[in-house]
This record gives sequence, C-alpha cells and structure tokens, in this order.
Amino acid sequence: MSIIKINAITVEPDSGDELARRFAARAGAVDSADGFEGFELLKPTDARTTWLVVTRWRDEQSFQAWAASPAFGQGHRSEGPAADQPKQRPVGVSSELWSYVVAGGSAGGTD
Ligand code: HEM
Repeated sequence: MSIIKINAITVEPDSGDELARRFAARAGAVDSADGFEGFELLKPTDARTTWLVVTRWRDEQSFQAWAASPAFGQGHRSEGPAADQPKQRPVGVSSELWSYVVAGGSAGGTD
C-alpha cells in the first residue's frame, strides 16, 4: 500500500511565491527515485503560512532510501545550481514531516 509523506513548510508571510519558484526550478528532481509515485506542492488559500509538500511512495523503504540518498541532499542544498552563484537563504522558517496512509476515500465522479 502506498504511503504519504507530507513536508509541512512554514514560511514568512510573502515568501511563499519564492518557495513555489524554488520548487519549479527543481521540477523532476525526484521523479526517477525508486518507488516515487508523485508529489504536489500545496499553497494555502487562507492566512496560513504553512505550505504542504504532499509526496506519495510505494512503501516506507522507498521513501527512506530517497531521503538518505545523495539525490535528496543535492535537491535540498540552498545554494544556487552553479558553484559561482551566491548562497540563497532557505525560505522556510520551520518544517515538519507528517506520515500517513490512505484509510478511505473516493476517486470522484467521471462527469
Ligand atoms: C516528504 C519529503 C520531503 C522532505 C522530508 C523534505 C524536506 C525539506 C526540508 C526540511 C526543507 C527545508 C524547510 C525549511 O527551510 O525549514 C525543504 C525545502 C525544500 N524542498 Fe523538500 N522535502 C521533501 C520533498 C521535496 C520534494 C519532492 C521536492 C521537489 C523535488 C522538494 C524540494 C524542496 C525545495 C525547493 C525546498 C525549498 C528550499 C529553499 O528554501 O531553498 N522537497 N524540504
């Protein structure tokens, strides 16, 4: 059964768009990880400042292997992509990892 790992990233007000830009710049970075089934970056539509990175994995082991891999470390450096670019500060002020399995639901109608 798939597992859901959610990284809940809290940003300063007004930093959210920069977070979205940084995610867009790393699109595809996780796609080739074994057992990776997809992710969405969810932006709050109310006054909250916590964004959710909802990721789905084949199993706990797949997630743990990716989280411990050089690919994860590379994708989570705060430097710019080139060595001569200035270091960027992280946009997040804090983050929490939440772990879930699907316990029910529905795919919705087709029309
Ligand atoms: C559940 C899996 C993940 C975990 C545990 C995780 C962990 C983290 C952590 C701890 C931060 C720093 C937040 C802070 O500043 O407080 C972060 C930021 C970030 N993550 Fe992840 N992440 C996950 C999934 C992903 C995925 C799938 C991507 C995209 C390929 C991604 C791309 C980023 C980016 C672009 C940032 C912003 C870094 C910055 O501020 O420059 N993360 N993540």
